[in-house]
Amino acid sequence: MTSTLHVDSVTKDFGSVRAVEDVSFTVDEGKFVTLLGPSGCGKTTTLRMIAGFETPTEGRVRLGDHDITMEEPYLRPTSMVFQSYALFPHKTVGENVGFGLKMRDVPADERSDRIAKMLDLIELPGIEDRGIDELSGGQQQRVALARALITEPEVLLLDEPLGALDLKLRKNMQVELKNLQEELGITFVYVTHDQEEALTMSDEIIILNEGEIEQRGTPTEIYESPRTRFVADFIGDTNLLDGTYVENGNAAIVECGSVDVPIDSLSAATDGQSLSVSIRPEKIALGDGAGNGNGNSVTLRGEVEDVIYQGNVAKVHVTIDGTELVLEQQVIDTVNLPTPGSECTISWDQENTNVLTG
Ligand SMILES: Nc1ncnc2c1ncn2[C@@H]1O[C@H](COP(=O)(O)OP(=O)(O)O)[C@@H](O)[C@H]1O
Ligand SMILES: [Mg+2]
Repeated sequence: MTSTLHVDSVTKDFGSVRAVEDVSFTVDEGKFVTLLGPSGCGKTTTLRMIAGFETPTEGRVRLGDHDITMEEPYLRPTSMVFQSYALFPHKTVGENVGFGLKMRDVPADERSDRIAKMLDLIELPGIEDRGIDELSGGQQQRVALARALITEPEVLLLDEPLGALDLKLRKNMQVELKNLQEELGITFVYVTHDQEEALTMSDEIIILNEGEIEQRGTPTEIYESPRTRFVADFIGDTNLLDGTYVENGNAAIVECGSVDVPIDSLSAATDGQSLSVSIRPEKIALGDGAGNGNGNSVTLRGEVEDVIYQGNVAKVHVTIDGTELVLEQQVIDTVNLPTPGSECTISWDQENTNVLTG
């Protein structure tokens, strides 16, 4: 039996506030899918409806053929890890981790065995009798994870579980969590507002904006081929140019102020329509000839406005008759950085121009 998670046309209103609007997605068994979006876009509410802490105003939640929309949280084969950990402060580590088993009337002997196994899994063996306040933030996070996993959920729901950790620990935990997920083969639905975290960990990313899905795809698809202005802007740095579509036989351009950006002609666009394009800074090179000779190269002449040295890379701001583009250059040798005020040629492979349709 496969237990694909189905979120079907789910809407959630809190009074007059629509937190989630007609959201549908599926997550195949054993996949790591991340809901990514800015604060307030409906991530937590979506997760809480899957967990059963909120009831959808409209729509259904299913696991395989099993409709769980109205089922009590503790009866669902789901488990949730909260950003705040939500550990019981006056219970020991062992009591916290074993809580879900006690709720399910698992006998004390079996409970102890399974608690010990979980503490091994999170690499904190033998700390059953410690108090929660004796643990560091990172350790508390692991205990919260163990508490969620001990009931052997089919779907683990994680709401910004690394949000309270400092950067270095967070990066380590990202890798550990991803490894653990692969080892256990459990479906993970992960929530974060941190795009780098989402790109690092996920099989697929679902971008939410104001309660609605903007785009779903693999990290590569989301980063390399954003389809909307929102996604292009939210994920990574980019050059966003707003312009007008002008058809020219098989080819076309988007007139963006002083810059004409050539694109393939679009059957879905009409002459004179407003359109935006996005080009990632690291896709633009100084000099001509970007694109390995395969695709069409876009070449423009401009002036170096500013060079911002960032250690491994430098951001080079170039103006083309008043329109600014930023390109990113690997710093192999600081001597070769361009000089502000100098004339320059920039180029990129036309394939790296993303036409944004929404
Ligand atoms: N219990 C609630 N009562 C009223 N409004 C809520 C409640 N929970 C969330 N909201 C509102 O719903 C929207 C989405 O919230 P949330 O799902 O927490 O977003 P996110 O997790 O993406 O930051 C926000 O506008 C928030 O203020
Ligand atoms: Mg939230």
